[in-house]
Amino acid sequence: MSSERKRVRKAVLPVAGLGTRFLPATKAMPKEMLPVVDKPLIQYAVEECIASGIENVIFVTGRRKSAIEDHFDFAPELEHFLEDHGKPELAQMVRDISGGIHFSYTRQNEALGLGHAVLTARELVGDEPFAVLLGDVIMESPVPATRALIEIYEATGQGAITVQEVPREELQFYGVISSSPGKIPRWGDSVLRLNDMVEKPKPDAAPSNLGVSGRYVLPPEIFDYLDQTEPGAGGEIQLTDGLRALAAKQGLWAHVHQGKTHDAGNKLGFLKATVELALKNPKFGNEFRRYLKTLEL
Ligand code: G1P
Repeated sequence: MSSERKRVRKAVLPVAGLGTRFLPATKAMPKEMLPVVDKPLIQYAVEECIASGIENVIFVTGRRKSAIEDHFDFAPELEHFLEDHGKPELAQMVRDISGGIHFSYTRQNEALGLGHAVLTARELVGDEPFAVLLGDVIMESPVPATRALIEIYEATGQGAITVQEVPREELQFYGVISSSPGKIPRWGDSVLRLNDMVEKPKPDAAPSNLGVSGRYVLPPEIFDYLDQTEPGAGGEIQLTDGLRALAAKQGLWAHVHQGKTHDAGNKLGFLKATVELALKNPKFGNEFRRYLKTLEL
C-alpha cells in the first residue's frame, strides 16, 4: 500500500451544507460561524486539528461561506488597531485563530452528500493519508480525538474512525458500526476492528450502540472507493458506503472516544453544547453556574 506510514498532515473539513436545521439563523450566515460561547462552531474543529499536529486544513466550501475564509485569514488592520489601542492580548487572540497552519479552499458545487464533499478535496489532498472532521461535533478529551486516530494510523498503516456510545433512540441519526475486539495491547478495549456499518439505521436495525462521531483518518485509497460509490440513502454519495468498501478491502479501525462529545448540529444540541462549555469557561463559568441556579427550572 503506497500510503503506508506516510505522515498525516492534512485535514478536510466539509462546510458546504446549507444549514437548514438552523433556520432562520442561517439564512444569511453560515452555520459554521454561529458562536458557541465565544468562538464560531468551526473554530473548535480547527483547534482540534492544530492540537493534533495537522498542518493544512482544507475546507470544502460552497456559496455564501466567505465568512469562514475571512475568519481564518490574516487580519492586519484589526491587529494593528488593537495594538495601537493598548489591547495586545486581543491582537494575539486574533493571530492565534489561524494557529500558524495553512488553509486551502475548494468548492462543492452540488449538494451530493458527505462522500462527495470528501471526494471534492481529492486534488488538494493528493496521495497521502488525511483526516476528516465534521464541524458540527465538538469533542473534548485529554488526547484530541483526531490525534488518537492519527496514532492508530501511524502504528497500523490503516484508517481509523472515532465512535461513541449512543443512546438507542438516537442511533437513527448516526452511522452505526459492527465490530470485533481489536486485540492491540497498547489500546486495550478502546480500539475495535470495524466489520461493517449502517448509515442512519431504523431503530431495530442498528448493529450496535456505537455511533460514528464525525472524526476519520483515512488512506488516499478512500477516494477510489468514493469514486465508485453509487448514490445511497437520500440520493447522496455517502461517506459510509466508501468506508464499508475500505473496511472490506484494507481494514479499518474504530476508536471508542475517551471523553465528552457535543453534537451541536441541531438547535437543541447546540444549546446544550453552549451551556456545558459556558459552565467550563475559566472567566465566567462559575458566575454562569450561579446564575443558572437562580432560574426556577
Ligand atoms: C454524518 C455521518 C454519520 C455520522 C454523523 C456524526 O451524518 O453521515 O455517519 O454518524 O455525521 O455527526 P450527518 O449528521 O451529517 O447527517
